[in-house]
Amino acid sequence: MENSVSGFSKFTKAEKIDWLISNHFQNNPKAKANLERYWNSDDSLQKLHDEFTENTISNFYLPFGIAPNFLINGKMYVIPMAIEESSVVAAASNAAKFWMERGGFTAEVLSTTKVGQVHFMYHGEYSELETIFNTIKPQLFEQTKSITKNMQKRGGGILDIKLVNKTSKLSGYYQLHVTFETKDAMGANFINSCLEQIATTFKASSDTIQVVMSILSNYVPECLVRAEVRCKVDELDTEAYSGQEFADTFIQAVRIAEIEPYRAVTHNKGIMNGVDSVVLATGNDFRAVEAGVHAYAARSGSYSSLTHASIENGVFKFWIELPLALGTIGGLTGLHPMVKTALELLGHPSAKKLMTIVAVAGLAQNFAALKSLTTTGIQQGHMKMHLLNILNQFEANANEKLQLIEHFKTHTVTHSAVVDAIENLRA
Ligand code: MEV
Repeated sequence: MENSVSGFSKFTKAEKIDWLISNHFQNNPKAKANLERYWNSDDSLQKLHDEFTENTISNFYLPFGIAPNFLINGKMYVIPMAIEESSVVAAASNAAKFWMERGGFTAEVLSTTKVGQVHFMYHGEYSELETIFNTIKPQLFEQTKSITKNMQKRGGGILDIKLVNKTSKLSGYYQLHVTFETKDAMGANFINSCLEQIATTFKASSDTIQVVMSILSNYVPECLVRAEVRCKVDELDTEAYSGQEFADTFIQAVRIAEIEPYRAVTHNKGIMNGVDSVVLATGNDFRAVEAGVHAYAARSGSYSSLTHASIENGVFKFWIELPLALGTIGGLTGLHPMVKTALELLGHPSAKKLMTIVAVAGLAQNFAALKSLTTTGIQQGHMKMHLLNILNQFEANANEKLQLIEHFKTHTVTHSAVVDAIENLRA
């Protein structure tokens, strides 16, 4: 095939880039220079990044921002956030300050169980399968001992192994549903190693069992965290509206997200702005978190809000509950220098503490979004933050930026208004 390549992974980095530039960029030196511009000047740091993944030819930066003033369970935090979207860090910081002045956030981990499954086919009598399973079950634990030894020392390990009959959904389909406690590790490698050993032992017990696959589940409805803010309704008063008006409209917005999937997806997307940015900054797997959180949001059969709100006895309450499988040891956490900085900034949290911090970041983000949406609208603040992006796109110099930022303090920011203003200034 045209442009196909074999043995690419064996090429050196320079050879990979040369192949790419000559085959896909018409030998344009600018394309090559752009890739090289993003290399780190510290060779050992670049090598570290090169080795995180395969076929690395350059780096792709995300801004690393911080949101101060988070009071969580009585302790102050500065939260690290890796995110490219303007307004997110500002919104988190505003919400943090707002709630710091009203008692802060409380958060608790409700459960920490993770799940993995051996999926297999069996076409004999169910009672015989049950006998095979019950006979072999002690060995399933026994044979994983070399893998679970260290985890057990830390208080974790395999919690249980259950045989699950799924034949009503798919003919001949069964599972070994395995639950795990992985303490401060996210545990993906640990879980998958245990599952593969369990599958091997199980398969060897009978030639009537056909193992299809063994893999952890990113659906972790029993690895749950809850975060909350609350204050008297009149503590929400401003000059523009009463606390009661604000809280009533805010609660309506939450109710809409609870019952209307189109709105719920956007509502939860805003929550994930906060969640993902902390998950990423702390070296965790945001795709796993995303998949698990959205499945949880749809657990009733209809996709719904992750946050809820109420007023009881004059007290406004706003809370989030979501599943988060996170780690603060293993994976990137001990490798990526910025991840190490992020974890140090958070005081080297346990996985449970990180769950509370991430949940709070999600709740704060949702509070800020709903506060804007139900009062001034989102665009006012958003476009102000977006202004800098547009100015950078037009390569505005420092002086132009100063003048235009001043100008847009009293003018509405739209893409075309900024372009006109730049052109006027330059004319
Ligand atoms: C934008 O990234 C997130 C929001 O759309 C969230 C929301 O609508 O709640 C502002």
